[in-house]
Amino acid sequence: MNGVKRVYFSEIESTNEYAKTQRAFGRDLLVIAEKQSGGRGTKGRSFSSCEGGVYLSALSFYQNFPASDAFVIMQSATTAVCETLVKFGLQPVIKWPNDVFVNGKKICGILIENALSGREIASSVVGIGLNVCNPLPEELTSVATTIFLETGKAVSVEEVRETLIALLYRKGTAKEYANYLGWLGEEVKIIVDEKEKTARLLSVDERGNLWAEVDGKKQPFASAEISLRVGENAIEEDKKR
Ligand code: BTN
Repeated sequence: MNGVKRVYFSEIESTNEYAKTQRAFGRDLLVIAEKQSGGRGTKGRSFSSCEGGVYLSALSFYQNFPASDAFVIMQSATTAVCETLVKFGLQPVIKWPNDVFVNGKKICGILIENALSGREIASSVVGIGLNVCNPLPEELTSVATTIFLETGKAVSVEEVRETLIALLYRKGTAKEYANYLGWLGEEVKIIVDEKEKTARLLSVDERGNLWAEVDGKKQPFASAEISLRVGENAIEEDKKR
């Protein structure tokens, strides 16, 4: 987006960690790296970040943003990634809440770290790791993919990154998010309280809760409560990441 200051690194440990150190300055900032030596994922996992991917973190400040609306940030980031992938000829789906898959494999992960002030979000760091033409570690090849692997075409990392940035600063809607939501109506595995259950995915509400039918009952789940597993390799993916 025009007007947002950018900072580029050829290599950094983690763009999210760097962006968080810049919160004290109170200015929106885009942190961009060619590669990361210690890319962070959700739930304390690592995120493989070899050269050839898009690795960026957008630090944004807000006024009057209720913490209860936090899912809007996720909606905007995931739909921006999906729209970007569509522009490069792919058909992405969102694995609730914040992963993007293509042809059953993960192509992008998103890590959002909010700073609260009372019941409001004062600032957020939206970290996006999108596989473009980066080599994947051997152990991820069955569960992850890249734009290059899916299209067979050489793609410019810079072009993908600029397309994503142009889409990132607009507000993604619940409808857009729902349009990209994967596995709707299908039976998947979810892990609730360390127990695996079969669930039929129904919808995601405006707070970001996943509605699913479990044991014949329709119920909402917050992402903090459950882990959604999809695809044959999903559990292996969770162990490796
Ligand atoms: C996940 O899949 O668990 C989330 C991965 C988020 C990775 C991105 S890459 C840019 C930013 N910097 C990080 O250290 N993590 C995010």
